[in-house]
Amino acid sequence: MSLLRVENVTKRFGGLVAVDDMSFEIRHGELMAIVGPNGAGKTTMFNLINGVFPADEGRIIFEDVDVTRYPAYKRAHLGIGRTFQIPRPFASATVRENIAIGGMFGAAGSEISVDRAMELADHYIDIIGLKEHRDKPAGGLTPVEKKLVEIARALAMKPRLLLMDEAMAGMNPKDIDEMVAFIREIRDTEGIAIVSMVEHIMRAVAGLAERVIVMHQGALLVDEPTQEALSDPRVIEVYLGQPPEEAHA
Ligand SMILES: Nc1ncnc2c1ncn2[C@@H]1O[C@H](COP(=O)(O)OP(=O)(O)OP(=O)(O)O)[C@@H](O)[C@H]1O
Ligand SMILES: [Mg+2]
Repeated sequence: MSLLRVENVTKRFGGLVAVDDMSFEIRHGELMAIVGPNGAGKTTMFNLINGVFPADEGRIIFEDVDVTRYPAYKRAHLGIGRTFQIPRPFASATVRENIAIGGMFGAAGSEISVDRAMELADHYIDIIGLKEHRDKPAGGLTPVEKKLVEIARALAMKPRLLLMDEAMAGMNPKDIDEMVAFIREIRDTEGIAIVSMVEHIMRAVAGLAERVIVMHQGALLVDEPTQEALSDPRVIEVYLGQPPEEAHA
């Protein structure tokens, strides 16, 4: 059984087809990336999976539950977690409080106490290595630290599927390599599937993903193991906008 099935999903904004008849599956515990040029529909696809808005057509099935019409909070309770492209912590709340908020709104949901949420926060603070910042306001962190807090907040929600929207945008190669190693470790220790949308950072895609979906103009272009996808002439063409022969020249 797959963890998530996207079946013939379409989303329009007025006359624009932002996501066009997309179908794919995500398996338990897998690491994959959704990439594609600007405007390809990646963020819209993410928003359709986690319920920011509903699909116009098609179905989204999470662990055999049809969540197509579920609001975002209900999908979060079922185990669909996400990080945001731009982390927006509560700036005056501490790192610990920001992460605990995730615990209170996640899959464990209303059943967990504030104390338990704080314990969960401490656990994930250890994992992201920000112990010394635990009681500091999150607003004072560096951009990379804010991304880590954002990931910890999402993990405290106990997702079985974690969607990461551009977790590595704007990072230097060293930070990217560290983040890739960190995300792989999370997958192993938490046993969750992670879908990362890493945009044009091919270094991150190659290091992170076992499988890559490439979107182009809202549609699925390829769904292949990473090495095949990255060397696929169709992919090279949409990224560079020229025939692959010239792209290699
Ligand atoms: N809320 C919206 N209202 C209208 N059009 C939108 C909306 N969100 C996205 N679009 C349009 O839908 C298309 C897909 O956008 P989307 O943000 O999903 O692409 P993306 O692949 O994430 O791009 P990027 O690489 O720039 O982040 C674009 O043409 C975009 O302008
Ligand atoms: Mg986007």
